[in-house]
Amino acid sequence: MKLSTKLLAATAMVSASAASAVELEVTHWWTSGGEAAAVSKFADAWNATGNTWVDGAIAGSGGTARPIIISRIIGGDPMGATQMNHGRQAEELIEAGLLLDLSDVAEAGGWADLVNPSSLLESCTLDGKIYCVPVNIHSAQWIWLSHSAYENAGLSVPTDWYEFAASAGDLQAAGTLPLAMGQQGWQQNIAFGAITLAVAGLDAWKGVNVDKNADVARGAEYTAAFEAVAAARAFAVGSNVQDWNLATNMVITGSAGAQIMGDWAQGEFAVAEQVEGEDYSCLPGLGLNDVLDTGGDAFYFPVNDDPEITAAQKEMAALLISPEAQVSFNLAKGSLPVRGDIDMSTANGCMQKGLEILASGGILPSSDISFSQDTTLQIEDLMAQFWSSDMSAADAQASYANLIENAD
Ligand code: GAL
Repeated sequence: MKLSTKLLAATAMVSASAASAVELEVTHWWTSGGEAAAVSKFADAWNATGNTWVDGAIAGSGGTARPIIISRIIGGDPMGATQMNHGRQAEELIEAGLLLDLSDVAEAGGWADLVNPSSLLESCTLDGKIYCVPVNIHSAQWIWLSHSAYENAGLSVPTDWYEFAASAGDLQAAGTLPLAMGQQGWQQNIAFGAITLAVAGLDAWKGVNVDKNADVARGAEYTAAFEAVAAARAFAVGSNVQDWNLATNMVITGSAGAQIMGDWAQGEFAVAEQVEGEDYSCLPGLGLNDVLDTGGDAFYFPVNDDPEITAAQKEMAALLISPEAQVSFNLAKGSLPVRGDIDMSTANGCMQKGLEILASGGILPSSDISFSQDTTLQIEDLMAQFWSSDMSAADAQASYANLIENAD
């Protein structure tokens, strides 16, 4: 098989001392500065075992990478391991028997006792078997604010969404774009979700995102949220970047006032050596709700018929959730660890805010857990259309409610 061939080549290449060393190709979409710094922590840890990490970074975003990853697995050209978001993205691959059952590794490592919250492990589980190792918690409901942009405009840095919205006109008058926005549906959907949670409130958000109640999506709270999103669209006119990290860079350089983006943005501020509270601020729940979703990343291991590769895959799964790898990776990534028994005291202020929210139980399921990929992609398409046109808030709300009505 192809993987065995790769193994032979790999064992010939690695040092003689690593007798049972195995080369595993690992695919992921971590290509921004902060992401690359984080994934190198995993690669270093794996290489230190004497095995070899063959980096299979796929440039773009999850939206670009996921179909490539899935088609390689289905098409008989599997990688050794792959990142995906934990939740429902791998559902069909698991059902097709294409992903390795990690239940014995999980049992040996006591994952059931240490993974926190337990929903992370549940989202790796199908029919009682565990098919992925969760490596982090990433939440999407954050706004990142540039202190230099506000200083230049002679304004104080907002402390919540409404203050931000009120400041937008003055930022514009000072020649600063209020809201940086990458022109991709998933990013626009993140902004939509965060604004909805802030403006429509927790109950309405849960009604739609957990209960899939279309009446709530048609209701007054969501009308207010859609109007707020239409206002946000106006704050972002002229933001022509595509990639999320280019939009983050606009906040880092002060050419934009803010970005609504997941906590992985923290990795970019870290690489730029910016200091939270001095150079930038981060507001979970857009400063209005102390809640965050528990999305994130997990690694899956495609099935193959070579026992040596299978053993190496299991070894990697155990390594990625080890205390050392969890600390070094998550500090670089800006994400929260999946185990509560490790020391994160060196985490910066934004991560500490996330850790406090996690400890207080203010957690929500992520859309990757609530919605199928089909539903998610339909919502992202609607958001792409809404943000790049003059579609009215009312029309967008009506289309959205119809999607929720049929969501699975
Ligand atoms: C998410 C992933 C994060 C981050 C982000 C942007 O899907 O969970 O780890 O990398 O994409 O690339």
